[in-house]
Amino acid sequence: MLLQEESHFGEISPMSVSRPRFLVLLFAIAALLSASAPAQTAAVGTALEAVTGSHPLPNGIDLQAGSATLRITALRDDIVRVRISPNGTLPEDASWAVLPEPRNKSVDVRPIEDSASVGFRTASLDVRVERNPLRLVIRDLAGNIISADAIGRPVNFQLGGFTVFKQMPSGEHYFGLGDKAGSFDRRQQAYTLWNTDVGPQESVDPLYKSIPFFLGISGARTYGIFLDNTWRTWFDFGKQARDAISFGSEGGPLDYYFLYGPTPKQVVESYAYLTGTPPLPPLWSLGFQQSRYSYTPESQVREIANRLRTDKIPSDVLYLDIDYQFKNRPFTVDPKTFPNFPALVSDLHKQHLHLVTITDLHIAHAPNQGYAPYDTGEAGNHFVKNPDGSQFVGVVWPGPAVFPDFTRAQTRDWWGGLYRQFVGDGVAGFWNDMNEPSVFSGPGMTMPLNNVHRIEEPGFATRTATHAEIHNIMGLENARATYEGLLKLRPDERPFVLTRATYAGGQRYGFTWTGDNSATWNHLRLATQMVLNLGVSGISMVGADVGGFGSSPAPDLLTRWVELAAFSPLCRDHAAKGTLPHEVWAHGPQHEAIRRRYIETRYRLLPYIYSLADEASRTGLPIMRPVFLEFPEVFAPSSGNFDHLDTEFLLGPSLLIAPPPFAETMDDYAVSFPQGPWYDFWTGLKMPAPPRVPSIAELASGAAYPEIPQIHPPLDTMPVYVRGGSILPLQPLIQNTDEIPNGPLELHVYPGPQCSGSLYLDDGHTFRYQHGEYLRQTFTCQPDANSVRVTFSARQGTYVPWWKSVEVVIYDWPSARAEVKLSTSASPLKTSYDAKKHSLHVTLPDVPGEAEISIGGR
Ligand code: GLC
Repeated sequence: MLLQEESHFGEISPMSVSRPRFLVLLFAIAALLSASAPAQTAAVGTALEAVTGSHPLPNGIDLQAGSATLRITALRDDIVRVRISPNGTLPEDASWAVLPEPRNKSVDVRPIEDSASVGFRTASLDVRVERNPLRLVIRDLAGNIISADAIGRPVNFQLGGFTVFKQMPSGEHYFGLGDKAGSFDRRQQAYTLWNTDVGPQESVDPLYKSIPFFLGISGARTYGIFLDNTWRTWFDFGKQARDAISFGSEGGPLDYYFLYGPTPKQVVESYAYLTGTPPLPPLWSLGFQQSRYSYTPESQVREIANRLRTDKIPSDVLYLDIDYQFKNRPFTVDPKTFPNFPALVSDLHKQHLHLVTITDLHIAHAPNQGYAPYDTGEAGNHFVKNPDGSQFVGVVWPGPAVFPDFTRAQTRDWWGGLYRQFVGDGVAGFWNDMNEPSVFSGPGMTMPLNNVHRIEEPGFATRTATHAEIHNIMGLENARATYEGLLKLRPDERPFVLTRATYAGGQRYGFTWTGDNSATWNHLRLATQMVLNLGVSGISMVGADVGGFGSSPAPDLLTRWVELAAFSPLCRDHAAKGTLPHEVWAHGPQHEAIRRRYIETRYRLLPYIYSLADEASRTGLPIMRPVFLEFPEVFAPSSGNFDHLDTEFLLGPSLLIAPPPFAETMDDYAVSFPQGPWYDFWTGLKMPAPPRVPSIAELASGAAYPEIPQIHPPLDTMPVYVRGGSILPLQPLIQNTDEIPNGPLELHVYPGPQCSGSLYLDDGHTFRYQHGEYLRQTFTCQPDANSVRVTFSARQGTYVPWWKSVEVVIYDWPSARAEVKLSTSASPLKTSYDAKKHSLHVTLPDVPGEAEISIGGR
């Protein structure tokens, strides 16, 4: 069937297909040039119009629609996979993102068949394909539509690619898609996913990462869609047609997963079930990190290290950017500027600073020069090829360079081995940059799309593939090669890998950052939005360059940036060549003191942050969370408009960070508080409940709009609030994560509903936790009119903690009067009262087993 000009999309205007079609035309040329286009790209302009046959499966259904084949299966009751091919053969069932185990899971379903539709039910979903016109509609068991194809022609195969159209209900919000900038909520926006080396200016797209996964949140119901397709893909949320979502690709399989919540947290966790969770990072990587392009020579690195220590800036990591290398060649060290490299690494260790070095994915094209990475790579046939079979050479930092073919298991193995020397020297972590891949001399700053990669990989048919197919996973597989290589070289150390480009599932290999931002206030705001959307796209371990990479931050901007980054998962100060120094001491002692205080706060909070990293590694829930993740009701029609969703965020479930939305202006602003109570983190005081905003109807009948309290925090104050009902673990201040905190573990109890907290601890760098050497404990509190009871669960795991005593701090306590009893001991407990913070401090001996303290006499 030919591509039709006239569309019959019901309410979707013909315009709605123009953008994808335009993109398809552009990229089709490349796809047609493809040396090994997969079978599924054969048809042109096929639309699915009506069901012409069906066959129930134990876990789903097979359907025919003319020449097209559909298979819809349930992996779990809440996860449905949809595969469609324009011809009789489904594409190869293989994935770089979805783990084999969940991909092979299935649940039994109950078939449904009537004159109008055919499909199945799981224990939580009703999945039906309407027969004519063909349309997939997914409902919950109460009959609410969660997601429905657009009426008319919901799937179209064109010129080697495809587009899927879904209805876009009014009031639905969209998040995810990784690092996309511009708008926090994706509604009314359109995006292309094609890993690109470009500064994340507000209106630039595509950026560095491709995560074809989004969440749709409508009132009380959230779902997710993950399009598992590595080619250039696009997503449109009502930009072209006001009532349609569309997504598609220039090639490759039409293979997507529908994930049902109903809460956003459940969707994020299900996405992690499919694509994996981040590994538990080394504790040191959660400390403060200092970087610059580039600290050189060696003496400058030592100066920075000394200054961090003499100025008492708690810190754990220093970076070497490309200039430490000989002629910018990865896996070399410039003998002139770094003549004593192993000694430098070891001296930094003595200062408790971990060294991370950059190792870009390109290998200098330097034959016969004794450059082992090239020589061994060439000998092992490890580099990407031109269509004629010769080695592809493109210009990057080292000049002419070649590119490892990371979709070969053997090549990844070889790459991993290149770290042997650095690992031997004690380098702690590695930074994989430029892996979109960036090629200065290439078309579109990358490789020609018809370059040839080889897929030689367990779980995949062995074949060649064009760069058009592999491009978006170069970063993913580069980071994987590094991560897995490090595991082989140092089996008992948790690898630290920082990558710039990635694809869905990239969280499995560690950290990423948002790329080359700028020292502007707008980019500070952007940093929050990007990290939040990455977080709900599975990527928890992420941060933005603190202070902005390009240009030099004004003193206030850097200060505000440090204040904010102290609460983000990766806290790394980094700057471009030619910019003014922007280490925390730049701009004088007053700024430094403020910045130091926030970094100190981060170190005091490390028991909480590390426990969040543990949670992320088990569940996929991000460390830094959009407010809606914890409080989905902010989208309920009854809650009115929740302001500042794109600037406020949560660190874990308990801390609300509410930066000035426009810190560069003098405006006051009102913090938006989700359901409370809330406490001020700095003063410890309970916040007055915000005034109730009358409904529109009440306002219409004359109710007055209440006065909402406004704040204007001075430069040294980042507003941070604690959710009532939280128990936060803190530790005494340390200067680095090697240091053993001196004093009690602190448990800060903020009474409120469902009051609880938890703590995770282990040795911070090995895998012994997987053999029981960890400590996990949960706490609850039950406040009532006169008393508070705090319970401790029995500890799990065998890890012996650093503290000998625990200080429990109860907030919202009115006076020094308190009767304290510990269930496991009759001895009296020491208490003190902080009248300013309304907090009672109780010191207990360590509480490894189940116990309860009751604090009465309020
Ligand atoms: C890229 C990176 C940046 C790095 C520079 C030099 O621009 O994004 O972080 O400093 O390359 O390696």
